[in-house]
Amino acid sequence: MDRKEFLTAIGMGAASVAVFNCIGCSKSSTEGGPSTPAPTNADFTLDLSSSANLVLNTNGGYIYANGIIVARTTSGNYIAVSQTCRHENTNVIYRSTQNQFYCQRHGATYSDTGVSSGIETNLPLTKYNTQLIGTKLRIYS
Ligand code: FES
Repeated sequence: MDRKEFLTAIGMGAASVAVFNCIGCSKSSTEGGPSTPAPTNADFTLDLSSSANLVLNTNGGYIYANGIIVARTTSGNYIAVSQTCRHENTNVIYRSTQNQFYCQRHGATYSDTGVSSGIETNLPLTKYNTQLIGTKLRIYS
């Protein structure tokens, strides 16, 4: 039984997992936190009406969910990349004024699609797709 089957068996769908994983997430609680490998085959939904995800209703807000940093740009679009810096595995943050992801540890920067600027590493962050339907934001590979 894989993880998805297990969660389904105990009645927790992907959205529940996403919400569960985001409890306590905020800009200040997870900056520089432990690293998480870039997820493969990601596909989960965030409920933007949930208190855990309300920050994504504000331009410039971001959260971490399932190893992915999800941000809302200043133009109101949603973007998502793997949350772990490719240099030494520190969580990146989103800087809305520059529309980039930034690693506070040594200063690596990544574009809104995860492309490295070449500071400390040339390796990219993994980009994920986003789709907003009503208040449900889907993040997927
Ligand atoms: S760990 Fe991110 S720049 Fe070094």
